[in-house]
Amino acid sequence: MIKAGVIGHPVSHSKSPLIHRYWLEKYGIKGEYTAYDLAPEGLLETAKDLLVSRGLSGFNVTLPHKQSIVDLCTTLSDEAKAIGAVNTVVYHSSGEIEGRNTDAFGFMENARGTLPRFDWSSGAVTVLGAGGASRAVIYALQKAGVSEIRLANRSSENAKRLADDFGVRPYEWEERNRMLEGTIALINTTSLGMKGQEYLEIDLGRMSPNSLVYDIVYVPLETELLRQAHGRGLQTITGIGMLLHQARPAFAAWFGVMPEVTEELKQMVLTP
Ligand code: ATR
Repeated sequence: MIKAGVIGHPVSHSKSPLIHRYWLEKYGIKGEYTAYDLAPEGLLETAKDLLVSRGLSGFNVTLPHKQSIVDLCTTLSDEAKAIGAVNTVVYHSSGEIEGRNTDAFGFMENARGTLPRFDWSSGAVTVLGAGGASRAVIYALQKAGVSEIRLANRSSENAKRLADDFGVRPYEWEERNRMLEGTIALINTTSLGMKGQEYLEIDLGRMSPNSLVYDIVYVPLETELLRQAHGRGLQTITGIGMLLHQARPAFAAWFGVMPEVTEELKQMVLTP
């Protein structure tokens, strides 16, 4: 019996058990996927115990542990190093504890699955937000060959720090309308537009007709930003696929099958 899980604090909101259990059943794998609420105090000991004493092959990591769990890892993937956060831990039989980050993969796989012909190398891309998700998005964009990334964030210190780390250009939050001019895509990685939050105020009229608006928020699935983009005939991508696709390499690492994202899975995850 292969065992894996997700650690977080709180963890009850996590969709990961639903996703991984769906795949375990779909592929007929004898496995277990459990949510573990681990407090920040003593995190490294309790997390290590899951691997060493409880026999887990690894676990996903959600808030607030994505950065602190780095210290448990004996090795980090290139993505995890660059992004500075771990969302997947793989416990190898050699004893190595490997930290990976699959958010960048999830971001780009979702884009490729939705708009396979979108040419990411054809122009500048605007990214809003400078949190953990933004780091994964910028990493993915650079891997995809985006030549110019423009970054704006409410707090300009956070934007500048991230811009320094990745060598992209920071803009002031107030400049977010102007910076859309001449960009092929706008990506929202802020929590604006999420259920219960304010909307993202931005003038999509500055974007050219064929451009793309990608919102990584998925509750609601169609945010106000995406509704406005539709209204202007722009291309759009919703955030649910990023969540589903980021789970695939983790499942493959523990359970040995690279699973597919299905419409049925998407609907299950979207059902409140
Ligand atoms: P995640 O891991 O999903 O990226 P996060 O690290 O909490 O989450 O980042 C949230 C992002 O949303 C940040 O860029 C934050 O901006 P600050 O760096 O200024 O905090 C942004 N954000 C949250 N609330 C916002 C608001 N009301 N207006 C503008 N940006 C907001």
